Amino acid sequence: MQKRERLYEGKAKKVYATDDARFYIIEYKDDATAFNGEKKGTIAGKGVVNNRMSNILFRMLEANGVETHLVEELSDRETVVKAVEIVPLEVIVRNVAAGSFSKRFGVEEGRELEAPTLEYCLKDDALGDPMINDSQILALGVATEEELRTMGALALRINGLLKDYFSRIGVRLVDFKIELGRYEGRIVLADEISPDTCRFWDAETNRKLDKDRFRRDLGGVEDAYREMFERVSR
Ligand code: TMP
Repeated sequence: MQKRERLYEGKAKKVYATDDARFYIIEYKDDATAFNGEKKGTIAGKGVVNNRMSNILFRMLEANGVETHLVEELSDRETVVKAVEIVPLEVIVRNVAAGSFSKRFGVEEGRELEAPTLEYCLKDDALGDPMINDSQILALGVATEEELRTMGALALRINGLLKDYFSRIGVRLVDFKIELGRYEGRIVLADEISPDTCRFWDAETNRKLDKDRFRRDLGGVEDAYREMFERVSR
């Protein structure tokens, strides 16, 4: 597989065309941003952890019947993926109150939710990724009714699989964000699942093992990423 022109550079990844129109190569960076790019930094080794952890999780999900964009890990930071068309939504699932949910509803962080929640944000940096509801998604033509149904069910199914997986390695899956793509008429899991896109708390101590350490200047950022990588690699 030959890497061709760069198609896109995001905050954490670059996307390249390849000599095969069915595939892209993504390359993970160590760059970290928060609060819609207002806060910037680097997390040494993050690109390697996110690439390899995401691929481990995607393989686990594939084994459980969830189609993902993963084709082949090429190197520490590079992966061949299906050339999906990203649906411009961040799909967020929560099991425990934290972050913007705690703030919006005045609920203390750490409260176990009585049922998982499903939220959508429109991926639009200029607008600060506003929250969007089902009828607004349909009204703007962001996704069809069928796609929306598929995405919602898939997100909750992925939550169940990830929750079980992480509980076996002593991690509480507080919440996460996924992105889905269209590929040959199907909705497939794309982007990444990593400490950048999930809240992971140690099951015994509730110690944060994710990007909140960077967002909130808690220190020990690299150690947290490394620790999560070690746990999923065991
Ligand atoms: P929130 O509580 O800030 O809304 O975040 C919910 C989850 O989504 C959390 O696991 C972090 C993840 N997330 C992203 O992956 N990208 C983002 O831009 C934001 C704001 C959150």
